[in-house]
Amino acid sequence: MEQRVAVVIVAGGSGRRMGDALPKQFAIVGGEPVLVRTINTFARALCGAKIVVVLPASQMEYWHNLAARFRVARHSVVEGGVERFHSVRAGVESLTEGCDLIAVQDGVRPLVSEELIVRTVECAAQHGAAVPVVLPVDSFRQVAEESGESCIVNRSQLRVVQTPQIFAADILRAAYDVEYSPEFTDDASVVERAGFKVALCEGDRRNIKITTPEDLYIAEALLEARRDEEQMR
Ligand code: C5P
Repeated sequence: MEQRVAVVIVAGGSGRRMGDALPKQFAIVGGEPVLVRTINTFARALCGAKIVVVLPASQMEYWHNLAARFRVARHSVVEGGVERFHSVRAGVESLTEGCDLIAVQDGVRPLVSEELIVRTVECAAQHGAAVPVVLPVDSFRQVAEESGESCIVNRSQLRVVQTPQIFAADILRAAYDVEYSPEFTDDASVVERAGFKVALCEGDRRNIKITTPEDLYIAEALLEARRDEEQMR
């Protein structure tokens, strides 16, 4: 059965780690703002899906003016909150039309592919909650806060979590009906705390989260490689 999917794209962060005044969701990659690229990829992958973008109140006007200069798929805008948790909740609460699944996407992951979106939708339709993951490539050490002593972590048991994280609408709404806790670093952690199981599907190493200035160079290079691949097809 065809699933009705709604999309919440969170871009409510202030982008402090980027080290400059322009929040990372508005930085230009491949000739387009990060957020424009993210919105348009979802619109292409999920034709007709309702898309809500969550922004800080202070950035609404800037976004309005920026979006007017690019081709951006139809979307609505709502005001975010203090933490990502509050921004997601505001986006979910604004979805009044019926939908079967809700996809939550970091606005700062503009390289998300249509294939990854569709794959995660299919996994969520089957399991009720789906999260894309990739294998870590670095080694990890766990450091004791007080002594500073460290020990190796078994990398084979770790996965790096990405977005979109996609859930049955009733599961996500029920899970977000709680008080904020600092453990909630993503949506899967909120859904799991509410007692639901989360299925993992294959992520994509190119689906990077633009967090620091270096990430913009990596994103440019990945986009160029993608364009070359498309031309060869
Ligand atoms: O801060 P972090 O890297 O976890 O941000 C992930 C995503 O959550 C970003 O797209 C950011 O804009 C968004 N976010 C938000 N509201 C906040 C904090 C972060 O929508 N208060």
